[in-house]
Amino acid sequence: MQSVGIIGAGIMGSGIAQTVAGKGMDVILTDVSLENAEKGKAGIAKSLAKLVAKEKITQTDADALLARITPVADYAAMSGCDLIIEAATEREDIKAKIFEAAGKVLGANAIMASNTSSIPITRMAASSPDAARFCGLHFFNPVPVMGLVEVIPGLATSQDTIDRMKAFGEKLGKTVVLAGDEPGFVVNRILCPMLNEAIFVLGAGIGSVEDIDAGCRIGLNHPMGPLTLADFVGLDTLLEIMKVFHSTTGDPKYRPAPLLQKYVEAGWYGRKSGKGFYDYSGETPVPSR
Ligand code: CAA
Repeated sequence: MQSVGIIGAGIMGSGIAQTVAGKGMDVILTDVSLENAEKGKAGIAKSLAKLVAKEKITQTDADALLARITPVADYAAMSGCDLIIEAATEREDIKAKIFEAAGKVLGANAIMASNTSSIPITRMAASSPDAARFCGLHFFNPVPVMGLVEVIPGLATSQDTIDRMKAFGEKLGKTVVLAGDEPGFVVNRILCPMLNEAIFVLGAGIGSVEDIDAGCRIGLNHPMGPLTLADFVGLDTLLEIMKVFHSTTGDPKYRPAPLLQKYVEAGWYGRKSGKGFYDYSGETPVPSR
């Protein structure tokens, strides 16, 4: 892999772009507008500036990394990419349109991958030009820090595509796990019901925001409590994931917590919107209510 197209310049797309460019590959970054793609690159510059200030990387390396990331307005510039990674909003209709449009420029031997958190790969492959060269490639937030990537083959994904995706994950310095094409794959199938359950626990008045988080952080030695982590993942994203689990399996144990639904309806998406289970407007987050 020498050149990678990334569709979606939000938290995940930008994190993937930073990681890929950090390993010397060129990145073509796009979003719904050039302005959004440029905003994504500006966010990467900010995160690199912090690493330079902490003397984790040199200014020269940060500049070189940034220079390898090119924000663009449309998919045409991705025709020379060896791999296109979709990291857009977790909605199947949006992703399907992306695979169709970007599929028109996908090189003859190039791979199209989705960073979906939950949507079945086999189902989405139907919107891509070649199901044999379509694969799930699931990163974790914050991408430059988290050491894992899940490779999820769909039913028709070729062994060559799987091998190339594994090699790509390893080139990024990540541990690669192979996951089955079932809702949530391996990690989110376990994580998201836990986060959803924490919201049920809050809604039932069993614990306060702070006590639920402290309980899991200290009692389970998790780096973040589940409500902090839900805010970090994005409550809108978590809700979409739970809806996919629920609708795909038909199992009521995956129904989204009513409080999760309510927070999303209020526009409380978590850290990215400034408010979720915590309010992020001050110096340190405080419970929203
Ligand atoms: N690029 C490079 N390095 C970065 C970075 C970035 N964008 N952001 C942070 N870092 C580095 C920092 O420099 C720091 O490095 P050192 O320890 O060497 O100084 C390190 O990461 C930790 O950062 P902080 O000190 O700022 O913060 P912290 O110690 O509180 O850790 C955390 C932050 C790593 C996020 C930690 O709280 C954590 O692991 N939380 C859980 C995260 C998690 O579970 N993620 C998965 C979410 S689920 C998901 O993503 C899947 C999905 O589909 C929903």
